[in-house]
Amino acid sequence: MRTLAITGAQWGDEGKGKITDYLAQDADTIVRFQGGNNAGHTIQIGEDVFKLHLLPSGILRAGKAAVIGNGVVIDVEELLEEMSAVEASGRGLEGLRISDRAHVILNYHRKLDGAEELYRGDRSVGTTRRGIGPCYQDKAARTGFRVCDLLEEDTLREKAPAVLRMKKDILEVMGDSCDCTEDMLVERLLGWGKALEPYICDSSVLVNESIDRGDRVLFEGAQGVMLDIDHGTYPYVTSSNTMAGAICSGAGVGPNRIGDVLGCLKAYTTRVGEGPMPTELHGELGEYIMKKGGEFGTTTGRGRRCGWLDLVIAKHAVRIGGITSFAVTKLDVLNGMETVKVCTHYELDGERIDHFPACLSRLSRLEPVYVELPGWEDWGGSAESVAAAGYDGLPSELKNYVSFIEKETGVPAGMISIGKRRSETIDRRGSWWA
Ligand code: IMP
Repeated sequence: MRTLAITGAQWGDEGKGKITDYLAQDADTIVRFQGGNNAGHTIQIGEDVFKLHLLPSGILRAGKAAVIGNGVVIDVEELLEEMSAVEASGRGLEGLRISDRAHVILNYHRKLDGAEELYRGDRSVGTTRRGIGPCYQDKAARTGFRVCDLLEEDTLREKAPAVLRMKKDILEVMGDSCDCTEDMLVERLLGWGKALEPYICDSSVLVNESIDRGDRVLFEGAQGVMLDIDHGTYPYVTSSNTMAGAICSGAGVGPNRIGDVLGCLKAYTTRVGEGPMPTELHGELGEYIMKKGGEFGTTTGRGRRCGWLDLVIAKHAVRIGGITSFAVTKLDVLNGMETVKVCTHYELDGERIDHFPACLSRLSRLEPVYVELPGWEDWGGSAESVAAAGYDGLPSELKNYVSFIEKETGVPAGMISIGKRRSETIDRRGSWWA
Protein backbone atom coordinates (compact mmCIF):
# COMPACT_ATOMS: atom_id res chain seq x y z
CA MET A 1 0.00 0.00 0.00
CA ARG A 2 1.49 3.29 -1.10
CA THR A 3 -0.49 6.15 0.37
CA LEU A 4 0.66 9.44 1.80
CA ALA A 5 -1.31 12.23 3.48
CA ILE A 6 -0.28 15.89 3.58
CA THR A 7 -1.84 17.97 6.34
CA GLY A 8 -1.27 21.35 7.99
CA ALA A 9 0.33 21.38 11.44
CA GLN A 10 -0.69 24.96 12.32
CA TRP A 11 -3.48 27.33 11.19
CA GLY A 12 -3.22 26.54 7.48
CA ASP A 13 -1.05 28.35 4.94
CA GLU A 14 1.98 26.26 5.90
CA GLY A 15 2.99 25.78 2.27
CA LYS A 16 1.04 22.56 1.68
CA GLY A 17 0.44 23.58 -1.94
CA LYS A 18 4.09 23.59 -2.82
CA ILE A 19 4.82 20.36 -0.95
CA THR A 20 1.79 18.65 -2.48
CA ASP A 21 2.85 19.76 -5.94
CA TYR A 22 6.38 18.46 -5.28
CA LEU A 23 5.13 15.03 -4.20
CA ALA A 24 2.34 14.92 -6.78
CA GLN A 25 5.04 14.50 -9.44
CA ASP A 26 5.37 10.88 -8.38
CA ALA A 27 1.75 10.21 -7.37
CA ASP A 28 -0.84 8.50 -9.55
CA THR A 29 -3.92 9.72 -7.72
CA ILE A 30 -4.31 12.94 -5.73
CA VAL A 31 -7.35 13.31 -3.50
CA ARG A 32 -8.89 16.27 -1.65
CA PHE A 33 -10.98 15.11 1.29
CA GLN A 34 -12.30 18.18 3.17
CA GLY A 35 -12.80 21.94 3.02
CA GLY A 36 -13.74 23.91 -0.04
CA ASN A 37 -12.71 27.11 -1.74
CA ASN A 38 -11.81 28.61 1.63
CA ALA A 39 -8.45 26.93 1.00
CA GLY A 40 -6.13 28.13 -1.67
CA HIS A 41 -2.63 27.77 -2.91
CA THR A 42 -0.50 29.11 -5.66
CA ILE A 43 1.42 26.72 -7.85
CA GLN A 44 4.05 27.83 -10.27
CA ILE A 45 4.97 25.59 -13.18
CA GLY A 46 7.51 27.29 -15.40
CA GLU A 47 5.95 30.61 -16.29
CA ASP A 48 2.39 29.49 -15.52
CA VAL A 49 0.97 30.52 -12.16
CA PHE A 50 -2.20 28.82 -10.91
CA LYS A 51 -4.28 29.81 -7.92
CA LEU A 52 -6.16 26.67 -7.01
CA HIS A 53 -8.92 26.64 -4.42
CA LEU A 54 -10.80 23.48 -5.23
CA LEU A 55 -8.99 21.46 -7.84
CA PRO A 56 -6.47 18.98 -6.41
CA SER A 57 -2.90 19.89 -7.36
CA GLY A 58 -2.54 16.78 -9.51
CA ILE A 59 -4.77 18.33 -12.15
CA LEU A 60 -1.77 20.21 -13.49
CA ARG A 61 0.12 17.04 -14.40
CA ALA A 62 -0.86 14.78 -17.24
CA GLY A 63 -1.81 11.17 -16.57
CA LYS A 64 -2.89 11.59 -12.96
CA ALA A 65 -6.28 11.21 -11.34
CA ALA A 66 -7.25 14.37 -9.44
CA VAL A 67 -10.13 13.54 -7.14
CA ILE A 68 -12.52 15.83 -5.23
CA GLY A 69 -13.73 13.57 -2.44
CA ASN A 70 -17.14 13.44 -0.76
CA GLY A 71 -15.89 15.43 2.26
CA VAL A 72 -15.29 18.54 0.15
CA VAL A 73 -17.96 21.23 -0.26
CA ILE A 74 -18.02 22.48 -3.83
CA ASP A 75 -18.67 25.97 -5.12
CA VAL A 76 -19.47 24.86 -8.66
CA GLU A 77 -19.06 28.29 -10.26
CA GLU A 78 -15.58 28.58 -8.76
CA LEU A 79 -14.73 25.03 -9.81
CA LEU A 80 -15.83 25.70 -13.40
CA GLU A 81 -13.63 28.82 -13.46
CA GLU A 82 -10.61 26.86 -12.26
CA MET A 83 -11.32 24.15 -14.83
CA SER A 84 -11.41 26.80 -17.58
CA ALA A 85 -8.09 28.28 -16.39
CA VAL A 86 -6.45 24.84 -16.53
CA GLU A 87 -7.81 24.25 -20.05
CA ALA A 88 -6.72 27.72 -21.15
CA SER A 89 -3.15 26.81 -20.23
CA GLY A 90 -3.29 23.93 -22.70
CA ARG A 91 -3.74 21.24 -20.06
CA GLY A 92 -6.55 18.69 -20.11
CA LEU A 93 -9.10 17.73 -17.48
CA GLU A 94 -9.17 13.98 -18.23
CA GLY A 95 -7.90 13.17 -14.75
CA LEU A 96 -10.61 15.07 -12.87
CA ARG A 97 -13.06 13.03 -10.81
CA ILE A 98 -15.75 14.46 -8.52
CA SER A 99 -17.52 12.51 -5.80
CA ASP A 100 -21.23 12.01 -6.32
CA ARG A 101 -21.61 12.42 -2.54
CA ALA A 102 -19.92 15.82 -2.17
CA HIS A 103 -22.19 18.73 -1.19
CA VAL A 104 -22.56 21.88 -3.24
CA ILE A 105 -22.40 25.47 -2.02
CA LEU A 106 -25.26 27.71 -3.07
CA ASN A 107 -25.65 31.47 -3.12
CA TYR A 108 -27.77 31.36 0.05
CA HIS A 109 -24.86 29.66 1.86
CA ARG A 110 -22.62 32.60 1.07
CA LYS A 111 -25.34 35.04 2.19
CA LEU A 112 -25.84 33.10 5.42
CA ASP A 113 -22.08 33.06 6.03
CA GLY A 114 -22.08 36.88 5.93
CA ALA A 115 -25.29 37.22 7.96
CA GLU A 116 -24.05 34.83 10.68
CA GLU A 117 -20.80 36.77 10.96
CA LEU A 118 -22.77 40.01 11.48
CA TYR A 119 -24.88 38.35 14.16
CA ARG A 120 -21.74 37.24 15.99
CA GLY A 121 -20.70 40.87 16.35
CA ASP A 122 -17.50 41.15 18.40
CA ARG A 123 -17.19 37.38 18.35
CA SER A 124 -17.16 37.01 14.56
CA VAL A 125 -14.98 34.13 13.36
CA GLY A 126 -13.48 36.04 10.45
CA THR A 127 -14.63 33.40 7.94
CA THR A 128 -13.70 33.56 4.29
CA ARG A 129 -17.43 34.21 3.60
CA ARG A 130 -17.41 31.53 0.93
CA GLY A 131 -20.44 29.76 2.44
CA ILE A 132 -18.36 26.85 3.74
CA GLY A 133 -19.86 26.74 7.25
CA PRO A 134 -23.51 27.03 6.15
CA CYS A 135 -22.96 24.31 3.53
CA TYR A 136 -21.56 21.90 6.14
CA GLN A 137 -24.46 22.91 8.42
CA ASP A 138 -26.88 21.80 5.70
CA LYS A 139 -24.97 18.55 5.31
CA ALA A 140 -25.44 17.80 9.02
CA ALA A 141 -29.04 19.05 8.93
CA ARG A 142 -29.75 16.78 5.95
CA THR A 143 -30.95 19.67 3.85
CA GLY A 144 -27.95 19.89 1.51
CA PHE A 145 -27.76 19.24 -2.22
CA ARG A 146 -25.22 16.64 -3.25
CA VAL A 147 -23.46 16.28 -6.58
CA CYS A 148 -25.53 13.18 -7.43
CA ASP A 149 -28.72 15.25 -7.04
CA LEU A 150 -27.58 17.54 -9.85
CA LEU A 151 -28.32 14.75 -12.31
CA GLU A 152 -31.80 14.00 -10.99
CA GLU A 153 -34.45 16.55 -11.94
CA ASP A 154 -37.22 14.76 -10.03
CA THR A 155 -35.20 14.74 -6.81
CA LEU A 156 -34.38 18.42 -7.22
CA ARG A 157 -37.99 19.40 -7.86
CA GLU A 158 -39.06 17.41 -4.82
CA LYS A 159 -36.40 18.83 -2.51
CA ALA A 160 -36.13 22.45 -3.63
CA PRO A 161 -39.40 23.96 -2.28
CA ALA A 162 -38.90 23.13 1.39
CA VAL A 163 -35.19 23.96 1.40
CA LEU A 164 -35.67 27.24 -0.40
CA ARG A 165 -38.56 28.28 1.87
CA MET A 166 -36.41 27.58 4.92
CA LYS A 167 -33.44 29.57 3.59
CA LYS A 168 -35.61 32.53 2.54
CA ASP A 169 -37.28 32.67 5.96
CA ILE A 170 -33.97 32.48 7.81
CA LEU A 171 -32.33 35.13 5.63
CA GLU A 172 -35.30 37.44 6.03
CA VAL A 173 -35.19 37.15 9.81
CA MET A 174 -31.47 37.88 9.65
CA GLY A 175 -32.03 41.08 7.67
CA ASP A 176 -31.08 39.74 4.22
CA SER A 177 -33.16 38.20 1.43
CA CYS A 178 -33.00 35.60 -1.29
CA ASP A 179 -34.87 36.26 -4.53
CA CYS A 180 -34.18 32.86 -6.04
CA THR A 181 -37.28 30.95 -7.21
CA GLU A 182 -37.67 27.18 -7.18
CA ASP A 183 -37.36 27.09 -10.96
CA MET A 184 -34.23 29.22 -10.91
CA LEU A 185 -32.66 26.97 -8.30
CA VAL A 186 -33.51 23.75 -10.11
CA GLU A 187 -32.36 25.10 -13.48
CA ARG A 188 -29.09 26.24 -11.99
CA LEU A 189 -28.43 22.90 -10.31
CA LEU A 190 -29.30 20.98 -13.49
CA GLY A 191 -26.95 23.22 -15.46
CA TRP A 192 -24.14 22.44 -13.04
CA GLY A 193 -24.97 18.74 -13.31
CA LYS A 194 -24.62 18.89 -17.08
CA ALA A 195 -21.28 20.68 -16.86
CA LEU A 196 -19.85 18.28 -14.29
CA GLU A 197 -21.41 15.02 -15.47
CA PRO A 198 -18.34 13.67 -17.30
CA TYR A 199 -16.34 13.87 -14.07
CA ILE A 200 -18.86 12.58 -11.51
CA CYS A 201 -18.22 9.16 -9.99
CA ASP A 202 -18.24 7.16 -6.76
CA SER A 203 -14.83 8.43 -5.74
CA SER A 204 -14.48 6.03 -2.79
CA VAL A 205 -14.56 3.11 -5.25
CA LEU A 206 -12.07 4.86 -7.50
CA VAL A 207 -9.62 5.70 -4.71
CA ASN A 208 -9.79 2.24 -3.13
CA GLU A 209 -9.28 0.55 -6.48
CA SER A 210 -6.31 2.81 -7.06
CA ILE A 211 -4.83 1.72 -3.70
CA ASP A 212 -5.57 -1.96 -4.53
CA ARG A 213 -3.63 -1.64 -7.79
CA GLY A 214 -0.60 -0.44 -5.87
CA ASP A 215 -0.84 3.11 -7.20
CA ARG A 216 0.73 5.96 -5.29
CA VAL A 217 -2.15 7.82 -3.69
CA LEU A 218 -1.67 11.28 -2.20
CA PHE A 219 -4.30 12.79 0.13
CA GLU A 220 -4.15 16.58 0.03
CA GLY A 221 -5.39 18.26 3.22
CA ALA A 222 -6.63 21.85 3.46
CA GLN A 223 -6.31 24.24 6.42
CA GLY A 224 -4.49 22.92 9.51
CA VAL A 225 -4.90 21.30 12.91
CA MET A 226 -5.74 24.53 14.75
CA LEU A 227 -8.63 25.14 12.36
CA ASP A 228 -10.03 21.62 12.90
CA ILE A 229 -13.59 21.86 14.13
CA ASP A 230 -12.92 19.44 17.02
CA HIS A 231 -9.28 20.00 17.84
CA GLY A 232 -8.70 23.62 16.85
CA THR A 233 -9.34 26.91 18.60
CA TYR A 234 -13.13 26.50 18.62
CA PRO A 235 -15.18 28.52 17.71
CA TYR A 236 -12.45 30.25 15.67
CA VAL A 237 -12.10 27.30 13.34
CA THR A 238 -13.33 26.08 9.99
CA SER A 239 -16.29 23.71 9.79
CA SER A 240 -14.56 20.47 8.84
CA ASN A 241 -12.07 18.08 10.40
CA THR A 242 -8.73 18.90 8.87
CA MET A 243 -6.40 16.14 10.02
CA ALA A 244 -5.57 12.75 8.50
CA GLY A 245 -8.42 11.05 10.36
CA ALA A 246 -10.81 12.97 8.12
CA ILE A 247 -9.49 11.06 5.11
CA CYS A 248 -11.56 8.06 6.19
CA SER A 249 -14.88 9.89 6.09
CA GLY A 250 -13.95 12.49 3.47
CA ALA A 251 -12.49 10.14 0.87
CA GLY A 252 -14.19 6.90 1.87
CA VAL A 253 -11.14 4.83 2.76
CA GLY A 254 -10.49 2.73 5.87
CA PRO A 255 -8.11 3.91 8.62
CA ASN A 256 -5.77 1.03 7.86
CA ARG A 257 -5.22 2.41 4.36
CA ILE A 258 -3.49 5.63 5.37
CA GLY A 259 0.27 5.21 5.25
CA ASP A 260 2.63 8.04 6.07
CA VAL A 261 1.36 11.41 7.24
CA LEU A 262 3.47 14.41 6.31
CA GLY A 263 2.73 17.47 8.45
CA CYS A 264 3.59 20.84 6.93
CA LEU A 265 5.10 23.05 9.59
CA LYS A 266 6.01 26.63 8.80
CA ALA A 267 9.22 27.77 10.52
CA TYR A 268 7.11 30.42 12.30
CA THR A 269 3.39 30.70 13.01
CA THR A 270 0.67 32.52 11.09
CA ARG A 271 -3.10 32.68 11.27
CA VAL A 272 -5.82 34.50 9.33
CA GLY A 273 -9.03 35.59 10.95
CA GLU A 274 -9.88 35.91 14.61
CA GLY A 275 -9.10 33.76 17.62
CA PRO A 276 -6.28 32.90 20.00
CA MET A 277 -2.68 32.66 18.84
CA PRO A 278 -0.34 32.41 21.84
CA THR A 279 2.93 33.32 20.08
CA GLU A 280 1.58 36.24 18.04
CA LEU A 281 4.04 39.13 17.59
CA HIS A 282 2.18 42.43 17.69
CA GLY A 283 4.94 44.93 16.89
CA GLU A 284 7.42 45.58 14.12
CA LEU A 285 8.83 42.08 14.09
CA GLY A 286 5.42 40.58 13.28
CA GLU A 287 5.02 43.09 10.42
CA TYR A 288 8.52 42.32 9.18
CA ILE A 289 7.78 38.58 9.01
CA MET A 290 4.42 39.25 7.33
CA LYS A 291 6.04 41.31 4.59
CA LYS A 292 9.13 39.15 4.14
CA GLY A 293 7.09 35.96 4.11
CA GLY A 294 4.43 37.39 1.78
CA GLU A 295 1.86 36.45 4.40
CA PHE A 296 -1.31 37.56 2.64
CA GLY A 297 -4.21 35.16 2.11
CA THR A 298 -4.52 33.45 -1.29
CA THR A 299 -8.30 33.39 -0.91
CA THR A 300 -9.07 36.72 0.75
CA GLY A 301 -5.86 38.77 0.41
CA ARG A 302 -5.98 39.51 4.16
CA GLY A 303 -2.67 40.05 5.96
CA ARG A 304 -1.85 37.08 8.21
CA ARG A 305 -1.01 37.48 11.88
CA CYS A 306 2.58 36.31 12.45
CA GLY A 307 4.50 34.96 15.44
CA TRP A 308 7.23 32.60 16.61
CA LEU A 309 7.07 28.86 16.10
CA ASP A 310 4.87 27.16 18.70
CA LEU A 311 5.88 23.58 19.47
CA VAL A 312 2.90 23.00 21.78
CA ILE A 313 0.84 23.26 18.60
CA ALA A 314 3.25 21.11 16.58
CA LYS A 315 2.99 18.36 19.21
CA HIS A 316 -0.82 18.72 19.27
CA ALA A 317 -0.77 18.19 15.47
CA VAL A 318 1.48 15.13 15.78
CA ARG A 319 -0.76 13.51 18.41
CA ILE A 320 -4.08 14.23 16.70
CA GLY A 321 -2.97 13.81 13.12
CA GLY A 322 -0.57 10.86 13.41
CA ILE A 323 2.16 12.88 11.72
CA THR A 324 5.15 10.70 10.84
CA SER A 325 7.33 13.34 9.22
CA PHE A 326 7.46 17.13 8.95
CA ALA A 327 8.03 19.33 5.93
CA VAL A 328 9.52 22.43 7.57
CA THR A 329 8.71 25.32 5.26
CA LYS A 330 9.69 28.97 4.75
CA LEU A 331 12.92 28.69 6.74
CA ASP A 332 14.41 31.31 4.41
CA VAL A 333 12.03 33.94 5.85
CA LEU A 334 13.96 33.74 9.14
CA ASN A 335 17.33 34.28 7.42
CA GLY A 336 19.37 37.14 8.82
CA MET A 337 17.92 37.19 12.33
CA GLU A 338 20.34 37.35 15.23
CA THR A 339 18.28 34.94 17.28
CA VAL A 340 15.07 33.00 16.72
CA LYS A 341 12.60 32.03 19.41
CA VAL A 342 10.65 28.80 19.76
CA CYS A 343 7.80 28.28 22.21
CA THR A 344 8.23 24.99 24.06
CA HIS A 345 5.35 25.24 26.56
CA TYR A 346 3.02 27.74 28.23
CA GLU A 347 2.55 29.06 31.74
CA LEU A 348 -0.82 29.76 33.29
CA ASP A 349 -1.22 31.11 36.82
CA GLY A 350 2.25 29.82 37.67
CA GLU A 351 1.50 26.35 36.33
CA ARG A 352 3.33 24.71 33.39
CA ILE A 353 1.01 23.86 30.46
CA ASP A 354 2.23 21.32 27.89
CA HIS A 355 -1.02 20.69 26.03
CA PHE A 356 -3.10 23.19 24.09
CA PRO A 357 -6.07 24.19 26.29
CA ALA A 358 -9.63 23.91 24.96
CA CYS A 359 -11.02 26.84 26.88
CA LEU A 360 -10.80 30.36 25.41
CA SER A 361 -10.54 32.07 28.80
CA ARG A 362 -7.56 29.90 29.77
CA LEU A 363 -6.00 30.58 26.36
CA SER A 364 -6.33 34.33 26.83
CA ARG A 365 -4.40 34.17 30.11
CA LEU A 366 -1.52 31.88 29.23
CA GLU A 367 2.02 33.02 28.57
CA PRO A 368 4.23 31.29 26.01
CA VAL A 369 7.65 30.21 27.30
CA TYR A 370 10.43 30.48 24.73
CA VAL A 371 13.85 29.03 24.08
CA GLU A 372 16.05 31.46 22.19
CA LEU A 373 18.29 29.88 19.57
CA PRO A 374 21.06 31.45 17.48
CA GLY A 375 19.88 32.74 14.10
CA TRP A 376 21.65 32.20 10.78
CA GLU A 377 22.93 34.57 8.13
CA ASP A 378 21.21 35.24 4.85
CA TRP A 379 22.83 33.09 2.19
CA GLY A 380 22.97 35.98 -0.23
CA GLY A 381 22.99 33.79 -3.35
CA SER A 382 20.15 31.79 -4.84
CA ALA A 383 18.11 29.43 -2.68
CA GLU A 384 18.22 26.99 -5.58
CA SER A 385 21.98 26.54 -5.31
CA VAL A 386 21.74 26.29 -1.51
CA ALA A 387 19.11 23.56 -1.89
CA ALA A 388 21.18 21.81 -4.53
CA ALA A 389 24.04 21.53 -2.02
CA GLY A 390 21.73 19.45 0.21
CA TYR A 391 20.96 19.47 3.90
CA ASP A 392 24.55 19.25 5.09
CA GLY A 393 25.37 22.47 3.25
CA LEU A 394 22.82 24.54 5.18
CA PRO A 395 24.02 26.98 7.89
CA SER A 396 24.74 25.06 11.12
CA GLU A 397 22.37 27.31 13.13
CA LEU A 398 19.53 26.52 10.75
CA LYS A 399 20.23 22.79 11.12
CA ASN A 400 20.30 23.31 14.86
CA TYR A 401 16.83 24.92 14.64
CA VAL A 402 15.50 21.95 12.66
CA SER A 403 17.12 19.45 15.08
CA PHE A 404 15.49 21.27 17.99
CA ILE A 405 12.07 20.81 16.37
CA GLU A 406 12.80 17.13 15.74
CA LYS A 407 14.01 16.52 19.29
CA GLU A 408 11.08 18.29 20.95
CA THR A 409 8.38 16.69 18.79
CA GLY A 410 10.00 13.30 18.23
CA VAL A 411 9.23 13.59 14.51
CA PRO A 412 11.88 13.79 11.76
CA ALA A 413 11.90 16.69 9.32
CA GLY A 414 11.92 14.73 6.07
CA MET A 415 11.62 17.78 3.91
CA ILE A 416 12.98 21.31 4.12
CA SER A 417 11.67 24.18 2.04
CA ILE A 418 13.68 27.37 1.56
CA GLY A 419 11.80 29.06 -1.28
CA LYS A 420 8.70 28.97 -3.46
CA ARG A 421 10.07 26.89 -6.29
CA ARG A 422 10.34 23.15 -6.40
CA SER A 423 14.07 23.46 -6.89
CA GLU A 424 14.23 25.26 -3.52
CA THR A 425 13.36 22.10 -1.63
CA ILE A 426 15.60 19.63 0.19
CA ASP A 427 14.12 16.17 0.23
CA ARG A 428 15.98 14.39 3.03
CA ARG A 429 14.02 11.21 2.64
CA GLY A 430 13.96 10.66 -1.10
CA SER A 431 11.31 7.96 -1.19
CA TRP A 432 7.90 8.81 0.27
CA TRP A 433 6.13 5.78 -1.05
CA ALA A 434 6.69 2.83 1.27
P1 IMP B 1 -14.29 29.40 6.95
O1 IMP B 1 -13.50 28.16 6.70
O2 IMP B 1 -14.45 30.26 5.73
O3 IMP B 1 -15.60 29.12 7.63
O4 IMP B 1 -13.47 30.30 7.98
C1 IMP B 1 -13.24 29.90 9.32
C2 IMP B 1 -11.83 30.25 9.76
O5 IMP B 1 -10.90 29.44 9.07
C3 IMP B 1 -11.42 31.69 9.46
O6 IMP B 1 -10.58 32.16 10.49
C4 IMP B 1 -10.63 31.57 8.18
O7 IMP B 1 -9.71 32.61 8.00
C5 IMP B 1 -9.93 30.24 8.43
N1 IMP B 1 -9.52 29.56 7.20
C6 IMP B 1 -10.30 28.83 6.37
N2 IMP B 1 -9.56 28.32 5.37
C7 IMP B 1 -8.29 28.70 5.58
C8 IMP B 1 -7.06 28.43 4.89
O8 IMP B 1 -6.98 27.73 3.89
N3 IMP B 1 -5.94 29.01 5.45
C9 IMP B 1 -5.99 29.75 6.57
N4 IMP B 1 -7.11 30.02 7.23
C10 IMP B 1 -8.26 29.48 6.75
